[in-house]
Amino acid sequence: MAAKKPVSITITGAGGQIGYALLFRIASGAMLGPDTPVRLNLLEIPQGLRAAEGAALELQDSAFPLLSHVEVTDDPAVAFGGANLALLVGARPRTAGMERADLLQANGGIFGPQGRAINDHAADDIRVVVVGNPANTNALIAASNAPDVPRDRFTALTRLDHNRALGQLSVAVDSPVGDLRGVTIWGNHSATQFPDVAHATAGGDSVPALLAGRLGGPEGARSWLVDEFIPRVAKRGAEIIEVRGSSSVASAASAAIDHVHDWVLGTADRGWTSAGLWSEGAYGVPEGVICSFPAVAEGGTWRVVEGLEIDLFARHRIDASVAELVEEREAVRSLGLI
Ligand code: NAD
Ligand code: LMR
Repeated sequence: MAAKKPVSITITGAGGQIGYALLFRIASGAMLGPDTPVRLNLLEIPQGLRAAEGAALELQDSAFPLLSHVEVTDDPAVAFGGANLALLVGARPRTAGMERADLLQANGGIFGPQGRAINDHAADDIRVVVVGNPANTNALIAASNAPDVPRDRFTALTRLDHNRALGQLSVAVDSPVGDLRGVTIWGNHSATQFPDVAHATAGGDSVPALLAGRLGGPEGARSWLVDEFIPRVAKRGAEIIEVRGSSSVASAASAAIDHVHDWVLGTADRGWTSAGLWSEGAYGVPEGVICSFPAVAEGGTWRVVEGLEIDLFARHRIDASVAELVEEREAVRSLGLI
């Protein structure tokens, strides 16, 4: 049988923390499966090149059978040349005294040119996930600068939030995470996000009913969701920073791998997950923001799960996070970034 052609994968910020946690798992086959060889293109800025080169040496030393080639470069045209997949991790972090507009402007200077390089140099089947924050709006900037690439190829990572929700629920209803279905993260990858369990099940049983059973009725369940679960998941990034002393790394890399794995290989019978997708207007989310939705993937395409009942409580929460996405879009628009 002829050997499979390697999939060409670009990782930006490859010399950083998440990059280091991603590269070895991708090369081992965790993202695209044990039969798919990979070619890795590591993009860094000049200051990050040595770290990326060091990671490339270690990749060589790991002798991964699936790893066909590693390229390290600070040239986006080279890094995205022929890319089938791109994980955009490198971003400008917010530093002391920086206003939100400064952060958006600085990231526009990264994701605008990277969007153009993807447009001009990537393969026709390019699929992009943005990890670098603010992930949803960075994805919007990249997509808006790549007019020849279908919009639905640009996504933002909210799978980490989804996995965090599963982790919390698993403890609350005493169920293995693998038995949980029907959890959704709506909105922005920020503290306004809405982790929603209204449709969730554990081993086929309704999660709201299980919570009510454990917490003294529907009111107890509601209080736990509002006062503990939702803020815990939505602010988990800050909690990790406080406890670890720096932002999440291995869990973020793992979530990015889950996102691409499911996008390419499908969500199959595991039910829906959450992904930041270009809105076409589902659930009243305005077109043209990159919003987290309940989503399944099949044949290499994400599809929003439609028709879920949204009660008033959920509607307010979704609307609040979507309002923040719209505000961010207006801010980058007024800065001329999209
Ligand atoms: P890091 O600082 O360790 O690494 C970032 C790397 O990006 C650095 O090596 C830097 O040199 C590089 N870089 C900066 N600008 C670049 C550019 N224009 N091109 C290529 N490389 C560039 O940070 P990290 O811990 O790896 O986190 C990376 C990003 O991921 C941050 O924005 C962080 O907030 C975000 N993040 C997102 C999620 C999520 O769920 N979406 C979770 C965790 C972290
Ligand atoms: C995370 O969710 O861990 C990251 O986006 C970091 C942060 O600032 O929350």
